[in-house]
Amino acid sequence: MARLDPHSYADSEQPVAERIDLALRVDFAQRVLAGSALLTLREASAGPLDLDTRDLRIGAVETPEGKPLRYELAPPERILGTRLRVHLPPGTRALRIRYSTSPEASALQWLAPSQTAGGRHPYLYSQCQPIHARSLAPLQDTARIRIRAGARFTVPEHLRALMAAAPLGREAGGEGEVVDLFEMPQPVPPYLLAFAVGDLSPRQLSTRSAVWAERSVVDAAAWELDGVETMLQVAEVLFGPYEWERYDVLVMPPSFPFGGMENPRLTFATPSLLAGDRSLVNVIAHELAHAWTGNLVSNATLEHFWLNEGFTVYAERRILEALEGAEAAELHAAVGLHELEVSLRRFAKRPELTRLRTDMQGVDPDEAYSTVPYEKGYLFLRRLEELAGRDRWDLFLRAYLDRFRFQSITTDDFLRFLDQRLPGMSSKAGADRWIDGPGLPPDAPQPRSRRLDELREMARRAGEGVLPDENAAVRLQPTELLVFLQSVPELSADVCGQLDALLGLSRRRSLELRHAFVLVQLRAGVEAGREAARWLLRETGRMKYLRPVYTELARRPQTRALAREIYEETRATYHPIARTVVESILG
Ligand code: BES
Ligand code: ZN
Repeated sequence: MARLDPHSYADSEQPVAERIDLALRVDFAQRVLAGSALLTLREASAGPLDLDTRDLRIGAVETPEGKPLRYELAPPERILGTRLRVHLPPGTRALRIRYSTSPEASALQWLAPSQTAGGRHPYLYSQCQPIHARSLAPLQDTARIRIRAGARFTVPEHLRALMAAAPLGREAGGEGEVVDLFEMPQPVPPYLLAFAVGDLSPRQLSTRSAVWAERSVVDAAAWELDGVETMLQVAEVLFGPYEWERYDVLVMPPSFPFGGMENPRLTFATPSLLAGDRSLVNVIAHELAHAWTGNLVSNATLEHFWLNEGFTVYAERRILEALEGAEAAELHAAVGLHELEVSLRRFAKRPELTRLRTDMQGVDPDEAYSTVPYEKGYLFLRRLEELAGRDRWDLFLRAYLDRFRFQSITTDDFLRFLDQRLPGMSSKAGADRWIDGPGLPPDAPQPRSRRLDELREMARRAGEGVLPDENAAVRLQPTELLVFLQSVPELSADVCGQLDALLGLSRRRSLELRHAFVLVQLRAGVEAGREAARWLLRETGRMKYLRPVYTELARRPQTRALAREIYEETRATYHPIARTVVESILG
C-alpha cells in the first residue's frame, strides 16, 4: 500500500472513483445533510477501498442494487478524519453510501437568518478546500484524484441551491420542498466541490456571467463586478480559452472566511469586496485566474500548494497589468510583498513552512496556511519571467497550461517541464533555493515604480508629523492609500487623528483600507482605534482582516482583554476555521 497524499487515506493500489452522485436533503432545523453518495469506479474492481470521511454518520454501504457491502470505520484521526474501508466483491463498478453529516461538519457553515443580509431566511454554504470535502461526503479526498459529480439537493421551496456545476433545473420535492439538480462534467479535485443554499437572486453581467447574492446585496454586487466580462476576455488573451462555460460569482454572507474561493463556474466571494469603488476586484481577477492555474492545472497535494496560489497571484497581476497598467500591478505587488514579510516574521520559528515545497506530514493545512506560497511563489515566477524575457515566458506558460490541463501535478512535474522548454533556466534562477529553501533569496525581484517611491516618501514624512497636502491627499487612489498605510511608521496619536481627518479613513466602506488604518491607530495607541477594531471584527469574518487586527490587539497589554471581550461577542458568527485562527492568536 502507498498513500498518494499526506492528507488522504486514498491508496495508490486501490480502485479510483471517477464520479460521485450526491442526493442530499438539506435539513436546516437539524443542521444536517442526509442522503446518499453513489461512487462510480473507473473500472470493475475488487478488494479494499479506503475513503476519507470526517464526522459522517454512515447508515449503510451497498451496491447500486441495494445489496449490503462489508465496511469498517477506523478510529478518527485529528487531521485526517476517519478512514472508511469498504470491501468490494469482484466486479464492483459502483457503491452507494447512505449517510448524514454532522452539525459540526468542517466544510459547512449553517447560518441563522440573523446572520444573513436579509435576516429572514437561513443560509448554508460549503468550503471544501483544503481537506473538508470529506465532512460532506465519503470520497478519496485528494487533489490527485479528479472526480466528476452530479447532485440533487432537496431544499425548502422558498430557497435555492447553487452548485459550482451546471444547473439542470428543478423538480418537485416533498411537502414544502424542491429538488435542485446539477452536473459537473469536468473532472476536478474534490476540494472544488461546492454549493450554497439561501435566498439567492442573480443579475446578469454578460451572456456567460452573472452575480448571485441575497436580494438586498445583489445590485451593489452587480455594480462592483461590472467589469467581469472584460476581465474574462483579457484572461483568455493571456492564458487561452476559458474552459468552464460560465463564470458566475456568488457573493457570500459576511462570515465567509476567505476573500474568494475559486469554485469552478461559480467563484465564492466575500461581501467585503463591495467597497463601492471597484477597488477590490483584484480578488475576482485572482479567483478567475484559478480557472487556468489551479482548476485546469491543479496541485497534486498541499505540499505543492504554491503551484496553485503562486501561479494564480502571478496570473492575477498579469490580468491587472493588462486592465490597469504596469504601475497599478506594481502597487499590488508591493502590497503583496508587505504581506509576505509579515508572514515570514510570523513563521520565524517555523522556517520549514516558508519553503515553496513543504513537508506536510502531520501538519494541519489550515494551520500552515499563509501568504508564503502566494507571494513567494509569485516572486519566483516573476524571477523566471525576468530571466526568460516576457515573450519566451508567455510561450512557456501557454505550453504549461496545455501540457497539464485537467491534471494534478507536483513541483517536480513543473521543474521537469521547465527544463524541457527553457533549458538552463531553473539553475540560472536558483530554483532549488526558492523551492526547498526558507525565506526569500537575496536576488528576489523587488517591486519598483515611481509612484511607489513617492508613496513611501509620503509615509516616511507622515512619521515625522508632516502629512500630504489636501490636494495630494484627495488624489490618492485606494491601492495607493493601502501602500501608504502599510509603509507608515508608528505615528503619534495626534498625527493619527489628523490623518483620519484628512483622508476620512475610519469612515471608508472598504475594509481593506479600514483594517489597515485600524492597525495604524492601534499602534499609535489611540482610543478611537479600539472601537474601530470592535466594529470591524463584528462586521466581517474574513480571516485576512481578523488575523492582523486580533494579533495587534493581543500583542499589547493595554488591549489584550479587549481582544478577548470582542471575540466572546463575535465568536458565534465566525466560521470554524476562523475561530481556530483567532483562538491560536489569543492563546
Ligand atoms: N483558494 C484560495 C482560498 C483558500 C486557500 C481556501 C486555501 C482554503 C484553503 C483563494 O483562491 C484565495 O487565494 N483567496 C484569497 C484571495 C487573494 C489572494 C486575492 C483570499 O481569500 O484572500
Ligand atoms: Zn487563490
